[in-house]
Amino acid sequence: MDTAIVKKQAVEELALIEKAGDLALFEKKYLSKQGLIADIFKTLKDLPENKRKATGQQANKLKQELELLLKEKELRLVDAGKMAKESGKDFFDETQPGVMPEVGYLHLITQTQRQAESIFRGMGFELALGPEVETEWYNFDALNVAKDHPARDLQDTFWLKSCKSQFPISNFQFPNKEQKSNPQAQKLLLRTHTSSVQIRYMQSHQPPFRIIAPGRVFRNEATDQRHEAQFYQIEGLMVEKNISAANFKAIIEEFLSRYFEEKVEIRLRPGYFPFVEPGFEIDAKRSNGKWMELMGAGMVHPNVFKAVGIKGFTGFAFGCGLERLAMIKHNIPDLRFFYQSDLRFIKQF
Ligand code: DAH
Repeated sequence: MDTAIVKKQAVEELALIEKAGDLALFEKKYLSKQGLIADIFKTLKDLPENKRKATGQQANKLKQELELLLKEKELRLVDAGKMAKESGKDFFDETQPGVMPEVGYLHLITQTQRQAESIFRGMGFELALGPEVETEWYNFDALNVAKDHPARDLQDTFWLKSCKSQFPISNFQFPNKEQKSNPQAQKLLLRTHTSSVQIRYMQSHQPPFRIIAPGRVFRNEATDQRHEAQFYQIEGLMVEKNISAANFKAIIEEFLSRYFEEKVEIRLRPGYFPFVEPGFEIDAKRSNGKWMELMGAGMVHPNVFKAVGIKGFTGFAFGCGLERLAMIKHNIPDLRFFYQSDLRFIKQF
């Protein structure tokens, strides 16, 4: 047996030993009378004369080296054991590679929301927020949604049973006495869109202004690939003197191009939303050449301005699903992935 090979093997094995019991086994394997070094001595007599002396010396040297290494290791293990006992903790070996801790990070919806916020802020838009529990007036009436509009239906809207005791309704801002005294206007619901934030903002601010209002919305509908009972929207509103659909087109094209990081073209199709006139459906085309339906928009309806008491201004508004933006950008085929808390999905972004 070659002394160099035995040495290499012994040093490697010794390095891995962490228990005194294993040290004894090591000693037996290499240094005892039946050990590997003893084997080398036993074979000396079969070696040719000229090799015998050198091999014998090497084996002797190896034996001394291993005895020394073994002693050192023994002392180190004793020390480590003492330290562990004294500190009451497990032995910590600073030479071992560490275990990387799991670090949390932002959900794709949050990332998308922040990206959108950042782009709009860059174009002078401010952030506006409103409550998820809304009154019928903010969610529908003030937005010119007809009393018998199907969106108000139980099937589309989560109406809340009387929860006045838990929810301080007095914290809501009511536009005027008439609204406050109208019990119908105080009916509570989970907001079905972020358009309600437009109303809240316009009541308390004078134009000109540009805002975006991101947030969670709720619809009482069955879940499938494209629908969830809760999802996120981002609402936009820009009100100034003489704002036109051309301003809207320029801003949205700029937003989409920055969000998708490529030139995006949009087209406006006529669409109906009670709070805008004219209303548009917005399609966008990316470099892959496909038109995709993206959001609703339009010029703020005079009745909406009337409800909040703004005169002499024009404006545009739009509302877009945040999941929709993310799905298009990242080729996500199913809306439900966002809400299944499956780390295999979440960790991809
Ligand atoms: N609120 C609409 C919805 O939830 C989206 C929308 C359409 C918002 C047109 C707007 C708008 O501001 O002008 O489907």
